[in-house]
Amino acid sequence: MKRAYTVTTPIYYANAEPHIGHTYTTVVVDTLVRWHRQRGFETWSVSGTDEHGEKMVEAAEARGLDPARFTEQISAVHQRTWAELGVAASRFVRTTDPDHEKNVQGLLQRVYDAGWIEPREYEGLYCVGCERFLTERDMENGLCRDHERAPEPRRETNYFFLMSREFGWLREHILQNPGFIRPERYRNEALAMLRDESGLGDLSISRPKARLGWGIELPFDREHVCYVWFDALISYLTGAGFPDHPDFEARWANVEHLIGKDILKPHAVFWPIMLKAMGLPPYRHLSVHGYWTVDERKVSKSLGNMVSPLAMRERYGFEAFRYFLLREMSFGLDASFSEPALVERVNADLANNLGNLLSRTLNLVEKLCGGVIPEPGEAGPPEAELAREAEAAERAVDAHVEELRLHDAVASILAFSGAVNRYLDGEAPWKAVKQPGGDGAVRRSLAHTSASLRRIAGLLEPFVPELAGEIARRLGGPGERITKGGPLVARLEVPTGG
Ligand code: MSP
Repeated sequence: MKRAYTVTTPIYYANAEPHIGHTYTTVVVDTLVRWHRQRGFETWSVSGTDEHGEKMVEAAEARGLDPARFTEQISAVHQRTWAELGVAASRFVRTTDPDHEKNVQGLLQRVYDAGWIEPREYEGLYCVGCERFLTERDMENGLCRDHERAPEPRRETNYFFLMSREFGWLREHILQNPGFIRPERYRNEALAMLRDESGLGDLSISRPKARLGWGIELPFDREHVCYVWFDALISYLTGAGFPDHPDFEARWANVEHLIGKDILKPHAVFWPIMLKAMGLPPYRHLSVHGYWTVDERKVSKSLGNMVSPLAMRERYGFEAFRYFLLREMSFGLDASFSEPALVERVNADLANNLGNLLSRTLNLVEKLCGGVIPEPGEAGPPEAELAREAEAAERAVDAHVEELRLHDAVASILAFSGAVNRYLDGEAPWKAVKQPGGDGAVRRSLAHTSASLRRIAGLLEPFVPELAGEIARRLGGPGERITKGGPLVARLEVPTGG
């Protein structure tokens, strides 16, 4: 039986159109799916939109729409965008989907029946941005640290998920399973949260309907709706086919969640304990990335620097944007986006290094071999060296991807492309052809260069699939006619304003 691999993006709040942050996670998920598929895994991916909660109600009101209509529109924009960009997940879950609502209610009832939920009177300071009551450490000068707005005092009956009794178990689980939360810094952050429990406690998982009607009703008290995070996390199960898809168990056995660092707590603390309460196994990996800043500033609606993936496609082509995202962010750390940096990177790596290698090769095959790639023939020491470098690059890519160092994986492929360029320079078939009996050397060097380029195309496929496909298509197989075409990647320029 094939091994399964399932990977998820966070489900995006349906109050904002796709931006660079969403695009990054979506692209990483697509890359991981392709990489695993190449290695024979049965892959499945989940994405979606998070549509309940006060944040949506506020955003809908601001546009004079009811929340159902509003979230439907934004969700449709997300779905269209990912489909157009070729990075749509296998299942897109809207939290308003009937199968999801059924799962949330079924699981709430299951957890309630097993004694994990109790009602309590609650009084505290609530931040609508976070959709939760804040603790002192969440605030600075009376304002929510993340949203820079004053939380509202509230007193209400809430149902609590008795999560704190499992902190010891969770700490142990994280300690025993080093890859459970990665990279290391976030594993440590999660352990620190659990060590210092004053920032945590039991989790309020209900909102009185009198205050918030827009949500999934608690099956055991119809006067309350489910807290949006409890609802949202369950979307991963819905997306994997819970409860009765025949592949659900296999999919869940090797599930990886990809998230940005701001949503570590719900994923590292709430979710594993929720799964335990539901009688389900924990996820395999939680992989946490940093933040993109744009021109050194935080991405925000008010600054208008959200960086739309469709606008980037229009300006530079989506593969160029995708390449930059994967090459530039060291997974786990923050990275900075700017259009000049993108242009410079794409020109250096794709137009110069790789693009030149391909066009030189195709031109030489055309000129010296009548447009047909020769059979490899005998390998001398330079070819043996090239083969060693190819194998080293393949091993490096696998090791890097397994540890989520996607930027290093891409760098290794480009370094190999540089090595092939140097091999071709060294062999100089354009000179060899002028030597008496130089035909054999010409055929050998162009055969090995083409074979190396085919390996590069294979290695690049998970990262820049269209570009990789184009390289493979133009080269064809040994003995086939090549297709020359124009530049692989047009040299980019930063558009001038105005
Ligand atoms: N709806 C929740 C997630 C629920 S998952 C069960 C949510 N949505 S979000 O739309 O606000 O954020 C989605 C993802 O985008 C998060 O992983 C967040 O970290 C990421 N990003 C938002 N802005 C970002 C950057 N500027 N850079 C990188 N990622 C960032 O949170």
